[in-house]
Amino acid sequence: MENRSIAIDGPAGAGKSTLARALAKEMGYLYVDTGAIYRTVALRCKQVGADPSDPEQVAPLLEGLDLRMAYGEDGVQHMYLSGEDVSEDIRHHEISGMASQVAALPQVRAFLLDFQRRQARDHDVVMDGRDIGTVVLPQAGLKVFLTASPETRARRRCLELEMRGQKAEFFDILHDIQQRDYQDAHREVAPLRQAEDAVPLDTTHLDQKQSLEALVELAKGRFSL
Ligand code: CDP
Ligand code: CDP
Repeated sequence: MENRSIAIDGPAGAGKSTLARALAKEMGYLYVDTGAIYRTVALRCKQVGADPSDPEQVAPLLEGLDLRMAYGEDGVQHMYLSGEDVSEDIRHHEISGMASQVAALPQVRAFLLDFQRRQARDHDVVMDGRDIGTVVLPQAGLKVFLTASPETRARRRCLELEMRGQKAEFFDILHDIQQRDYQDAHREVAPLRQAEDAVPLDTTHLDQKQSLEALVELAKGRFSL
């Protein structure tokens, strides 16, 4: 059977989650935000005071990790940690950097691989992250690599944080984004890179509506809808 999963990868602030969510709605697919899963592991590290870059401190946490993902009536993905809805807590600026650190640990990636694949087993999905097209769903029917300039991405992230009532200093965010780009692209396991069969889409000069139109066009062309 044709595989209709859609993999969207790219660096922070490229528009992955916003666009993947909108594309999933348009196609009637399930949207899976894999970054939220890494963020939840990072939050666990913060709760217990573990260093997210130290495998000896993080690996033991995985064994007892009570991590769950569920969809609300509105179709929004919620993350639960030890039974508590942590969907808002994981969006904190501090958690972004910690997520990138835990995501570099091979133990964490191996632990989460099956968890992510299971989501795509029973549904057509639009899944976004860093290694979806290369590692998690290499058989995806459409792979898109979303990018935008670091300055554009930092500007978008600042606006987003401000809207959430969090303080956002443009140059701090830009620095964090560049650091995270480097960390994500240079780690040994599943680094951020464009899959050979992925379609690149640069959203620097595209607003959300234009970006979504480009994605829908790609999906329709690929799946002959
Ligand atoms: O939304 P944003 O792009 O800022 O980050 P995210 O997608 O929520 O992911 C947070 C961090 O998790 C990233 O910086 C990556 O290091 C890591 N991640 C990953 O390694 N692999 C994925 N499939 C998804 C996220
Ligand atoms: O998931 P990722 O980190 O790649 O990016 P995002 O959270 O979807 O997008 C970051 C911000 O950029 C959001 O507030 C989007 O609304 C905005 N965005 C935009 O202004 N123009 C686009 N073409 C795409 C996203």
